[in-house]
Amino acid sequence: MSAGAYIVLNLPLICVRVFLMKEINTEKLVMGFWAKLPKPFFALAPMADVTDAAFRRIIAKYSRHGEPGGLPEPSEALVHAHLAGGRRAGGPDVFWTEFVSADGLVSRGREALMHDLAYTEGERPIVAQLFTANPDHMREAARIVRELGFDGIDINMGCPDKTIEKQGAGAALIKDFKRAQAVIRAAEEGAGNLPVSVKTRIGYNTNVLEEWLEVLLETKPAAITMHARTRKELSLVPARWEEVARAVKMAKGSGTLIIGNGDVRDLADAREKALATGADGVMLGRAIFGNPWLFDATRTTPPTLAEKFDVMIEHTHLFENLLGGVKSFAIMKKHYKAYAHGFDGAKELRMRLMDAENAGMVERIAREFLRTAPNIA
Ligand SMILES: Cc1cc2nc3c(=O)[nH]c(=O)nc-3n(C[C@H](O)[C@H](O)[C@H](O)COP(=O)(O)O)c2cc1C
Repeated sequence: MSAGAYIVLNLPLICVRVFLMKEINTEKLVMGFWAKLPKPFFALAPMADVTDAAFRRIIAKYSRHGEPGGLPEPSEALVHAHLAGGRRAGGPDVFWTEFVSADGLVSRGREALMHDLAYTEGERPIVAQLFTANPDHMREAARIVRELGFDGIDINMGCPDKTIEKQGAGAALIKDFKRAQAVIRAAEEGAGNLPVSVKTRIGYNTNVLEEWLEVLLETKPAAITMHARTRKELSLVPARWEEVARAVKMAKGSGTLIIGNGDVRDLADAREKALATGADGVMLGRAIFGNPWLFDATRTTPPTLAEKFDVMIEHTHLFENLLGGVKSFAIMKKHYKAYAHGFDGAKELRMRLMDAENAGMVERIAREFLRTAPNIA
């Protein structure tokens, strides 16, 4: 039989097969809360030992006015002005937890990781980020995350940390396409009706965006965050947003959302980058340091020093109450560098804060500074 005759005779069967494949593929695209987000949306990046349970609550409170977790509404006029654009008054539109080891979650050491998965209703929608190179562990950990009530599961495929990479996880998965797909598919199995997303980079040693994105898209994740640098580049070169634009083009029609990430300064910068690249969303990381007001688009004036210090003190007490027994107080020092920055006497103040050992000491140091330098606020 000639090839032509074969195709004609089997056409109905081929059509049914293609139709079924399409059906099955479309069914696998679980979008969950992602489908309800505004465009472009703005997400808070996962940052280990930074965006912990305490800091996320502070961010929700000072960036999400008039919503659960946020302060009461700001002036009606401000809300109106903002909502005229059809958006909520505050953000972020999505929260991420710090990354959590899926291997650890399915081990006997699980309890020790639960503080990294603590969240409040005010942080919804919230995505739990997991890392592993083991598909079985990912499947089981995804089930645990689902039971904990998260809105989504994100897989870390971009972390350059040597201890993570040694396990074959994080950015190391960019070098092992097959395993990366197996890990995502396992997460999708364990996640049930929860959407699964991936956060990654444009390559390992070199830019392999095209091949890598195609591999990822085959697994039908709800969203892919593209940190627009390779693993080798770490954060040492400017993020290449033209690669985000390429990713958007490649993902067109797949249903998977593309989130751009890297060096975004503030909401205005995020909006500009979304417009320029067509990204569905933008993720902001380091810009949140010392600035939990970052996602409050209704804010027209920068916080005063007194406001900043009040929040720094509140943040420190919350950290001590929620995480004091489980995390080192040294973690808070990163935040002090950012809160106490850009005014006369900041350097001396930072030095004093670096020596503080608890929230009480931080409060005393900060209040005394304000008392003795009244002209600054
Ligand atoms: C202190 C720190 C911790 C981070 N931890 C994580 C993490 O747990 N998971 C992750 O996917 N990315 C992590 N990242 C990367 C950020 O999510 C983000 O991709 C990167 O900082 C670039 O975005 P930015 O320029 O807006 O900061 C971390 C970055 C920093 C600075």
